[in-house]
Amino acid sequence: MVSEKIVTLVNEQITKEQYAAQLYLSMSAWFYAQDLEGIGNYFRVQSKEELMHADKMFDYVNDIGGKIILNEVPKPPHEFANAQEIFEKALDHERLVTKSIFNIVKAANDESDFATTSFLQWFINEQVEEESSASLLVSKIRMVKDNPSALYLFDQELAQRVFVPAAN
Ligand SMILES: [Fe+2]
Ligand SMILES: [Fe+2]
Repeated sequence: MVSEKIVTLVNEQITKEQYAAQLYLSMSAWFYAQDLEGIGNYFRVQSKEELMHADKMFDYVNDIGGKIILNEVPKPPHEFANAQEIFEKALDHERLVTKSIFNIVKAANDESDFATTSFLQWFINEQVEEESSASLLVSKIRMVKDNPSALYLFDQELAQRVFVPAAN
């Protein structure tokens, strides 16, 4: 039996994942507008992953017989100073999401809600991955700085990313 409180927290997390999707799609658009289509692709894939996260939570709330209540998704920013700022903001955002997931785990622990803690284990691992790759990209974009050929190569590298739907 999962409490109303936890259902509400998961519902709110659905919105946070949807916001992350919006944020990354907006970042993607910024790169496409700069003709950096590889980096644009990277963020677009990232955006799809966030929607998949929201989808997993949607299924979970449904599976436990909770009521899915969708909230308004805030408008993402669309103006950014430069590429480095975007990667730094993406890392900050992942850290924020990690905190938010940890909060739900903590609340679930307090209620001995083992179903939710077990469900969220996947997300805990996922956040470790996401923070690690976001952090690596911050380091790389700092190395690139204002070097056009390095930026070109970096763009090529990120063009390789493809969206892989997670198995359930
Ligand atoms: Fe996510
Ligand atoms: Fe994420």
